[in-house]
Amino acid sequence: MKIIGTGSAHPSCVVTNDMLAQFLDTSDEWIVTRTGIKERRLLSDEELKDLAVDAARKALDSAGMQAKDIDFIICSNVVNEYVTPSLSCLIHEAVQASCPCVDINAACTGFIYALQMAEAYQTAGMAKNILIVCAEEPTRMVDWSDRSTCVLFGDGAGAVVVTEGTDLKAIKTTNASKTEVLVQKRVLQPTPYATKKSENLPLVMLGQEVFKNAVSSSVRDLKEVVSKAGMELTDIDYFLLHQANIRIVEFVGHHLDMPKEKFPHNVEFYGNTSSASIPMLLDEMNARGDLKKGHKLAFSAFGAGFTTGACVLEWSMEK
Ligand code: COA
Repeated sequence: MKIIGTGSAHPSCVVTNDMLAQFLDTSDEWIVTRTGIKERRLLSDEELKDLAVDAARKALDSAGMQAKDIDFIICSNVVNEYVTPSLSCLIHEAVQASCPCVDINAACTGFIYALQMAEAYQTAGMAKNILIVCAEEPTRMVDWSDRSTCVLFGDGAGAVVVTEGTDLKAIKTTNASKTEVLVQKRVLQPTPYATKKSENLPLVMLGQEVFKNAVSSSVRDLKEVVSKAGMELTDIDYFLLHQANIRIVEFVGHHLDMPKEKFPHNVEFYGNTSSASIPMLLDEMNARGDLKKGHKLAFSAFGAGFTTGACVLEWSMEK
């Protein structure tokens, strides 16, 4: 598998920490010190599907492809306004694709799961050109009077087009069956037979538990995929980690004994955009010209489940 196109899209509404401090007992100082986040983008009059389609079109353009060239669309999404049809169907319709499509929900690890599925589809001969779109609006999952969660998230979409190739050197995904550390439940339509009590609960997060799991799983997964790729950690040019908290990124770098410069980040401007965070960062770096042919990249993500995943690939896209 190889990545041949990238794209991203952000909502226009920018919400700074000071804006949050107007209605929450919080401060720019607290949020920046604990998370690195300075501002985030929030969906206001747009729908998530608008961002998803925008990111998808940009990734297709960047790959020099049209929707008709795509054999499969995978959309990673935790929540959006449509229960059905899936977000991938909405993207499919908007870009006028003619291939099959599916949504996956592996929480913030969705991009790595989608890459692994894409590789499996290619290996099985079921698809050659695959569009992966990660589109998320976690800001609609949190209680906006809960300062411990609502300050952390932002909305956004990132996309890639992949085709056959040998750039992907190693990939892994895991699940640790820790469903209680990060969870949100919603009420479904009632039926005459549903007698159990249902509750609409905003996102509940055991922050410190998530932090510890995030650092230890990322360190473990990165060491494993780098070794599986037949490389040393020092061979990796950039580690693109899920952008949840700058301190998690720094702790992982410290545990791997790698220099800070190898850990690009943009969490300060977007907050935690769930599975969209790595493809958004990748697109930003690609657009800036940071990625050179032959660069070795490692991705690592973690999220509710507790899902984790990581991969190593060699960059071959010419800008
Ligand atoms: N502003 C000001 N104070 C806040 C606050 C905010 N936005 N949020 C929480 N606090 C307070 C708490 O109420 C607590 O006050 P207390 O000591 O009086 O009880 C204090 O700050 C410390 O809270 P704590 O939860 O211990 O802080 P922390 O250092 O663990 O940082 C997180 C909290 C959420 C930033 C941190 O745990 C974290 O980043 N966890 C991982 C989250 C994550 O990545 N989730 C997504 C995974 S995909």
